[in-house]
Amino acid sequence: MTATYTFDVFSSLDGYGAAGGDWSGYWGKQGPELLDHRLALYGPEQRMVFGARTYRVFAQMLAASSEGSDVRDPWVTRMRNLPATVVSTTLEGPLDWPHATVAKGDAVDVVARLKEESQVPLRSHGSLSMNRALMAAGLVDRVQVTLFPVVTGRTGLDPVFEGAADFDLELVENRTLDGHIQELVYRPTLH
Ligand SMILES: NC(=O)c1ccc[n+]([C@@H]2O[C@H](COP(=O)([O-])OP(=O)(O)OC[C@H]3O[C@@H](n4cnc5c(N)ncnc54)[C@H](OP(=O)(O)O)[C@@H]3O)[C@@H](O)[C@H]2O)c1
Repeated sequence: MTATYTFDVFSSLDGYGAAGGDWSGYWGKQGPELLDHRLALYGPEQRMVFGARTYRVFAQMLAASSEGSDVRDPWVTRMRNLPATVVSTTLEGPLDWPHATVAKGDAVDVVARLKEESQVPLRSHGSLSMNRALMAAGLVDRVQVTLFPVVTGRTGLDPVFEGAADFDLELVENRTLDGHIQELVYRPTLH
């Protein structure tokens, strides 16, 4: 059995992974159900896999954050304390992340190896370009999209699937959180 790999990503309805302008984290739409559900998702033992840019963004946001900011929400703290692999040819360790190590090389090779060797499931948050490459290589078992109720045609940044391959998606789970956020879990297969 190989370890399951989940690409966990937040998105606006129009497919952006972030926004500029006056949008805040979670596009300001989070509520208690979302935050509880996120903490439950990150509770079990698992290994995180991050692209270098997502690691750098998180590390910078955490360093600049103050108490009560979104980046210190309990599920993020839990995520930060899980074992993690950051895939990069440019980062040098040690990293400012308790249980993270750098894997040098291409994520396709690193994750193919981790899937063979890991005793626990693998999960990646964000890491958009890395996960597009992993999806194209057929290494992503689950795409878990949290869809926030906004359209950001003017300010959207980081289109989640820009430049991705084509996929058919089988819906395996869905839920509504706080009455307006959708979580959709798909099994992708290359089209
Ligand atoms: N919407 C969300 O859920 C969410 C969550 C977190 C972050 N984000 C956002 O996502 C963005 C980061 O994503 P990103 O796409 O810019 O970068 P990324 O995927 O996090 O990192 C890209 C880096 O990963 C390494 N890598 C190794 N193998 C790779 C491969 N096969 N393909 C691509 N990269 C590979 C490379 O590092 P080296 O160059 O060092 O080799 C590459 O430069 C940030 O803007 C962040 O704010 C979104």
